[in-house]
Amino acid sequence: MQFGASMLEFSILAYQEGINPPVTKPNPGFLIDIGEEGMRNLLDRFYMKLFESPIKELFPKDRDAMKKAGQFSADFFIQICGGIPYFNQTRGAPQMRGRHAPFRITPTARLHWLVLFEEALEPIVQNKSSSDENIQSFWNYINVFSQWMINTQEA
Ligand code: HEM
Repeated sequence: MQFGASMLEFSILAYQEGINPPVTKPNPGFLIDIGEEGMRNLLDRFYMKLFESPIKELFPKDRDAMKKAGQFSADFFIQICGGIPYFNQTRGAPQMRGRHAPFRITPTARLHWLVLFEEALEPIVQNKSSSDENIQSFWNYINVFSQWMINTQEA
């Protein structure tokens, strides 16, 4: 046992076509640790990274629209972590696969999406704003659920 060492493991599940592994929601503790403001900042960082990323073509082309999209996404993540159901209130039922259907989400797009999410999580890890256990559970959730969003095979 490496006492005191971080237990965090930002591994990425290999994509297997047609297999959507069971999804476990993140620990509510992640939201409790970072707070709504922390979640909104996290999604803002993430969407600003997406805005300049190799998958930017999938997303809104102007910065303000991208900021807004990031906050709808934050609404969802607050809700999925057991917080106030803002997403249901503003957008309706999540139906994430259906909402992603208009976009060509390939296995490679998922990889970019996850790597950028890991970068956006870095300040939370560095500042120890949440426990390793809670950060890990959040990562495990997006690692698995992002497979479900893939709807297009590589060209
Ligand atoms: C696999 C990689 C993914 C890609 C490339 C992707 C891409 C997109 C795109 C292009 C949009 C529309 C623009 C926007 O409103 O942001 C979107 C919306 C959204 N995505 Fe994803 N997404 C991915 C995975 C996920 C996952 C795993 C989740 C949740 C755990 C998620 C949650 C959302 C939410 C909440 C919205 C906003 C929907 C709305 O407001 O109507 N996405 N995503």
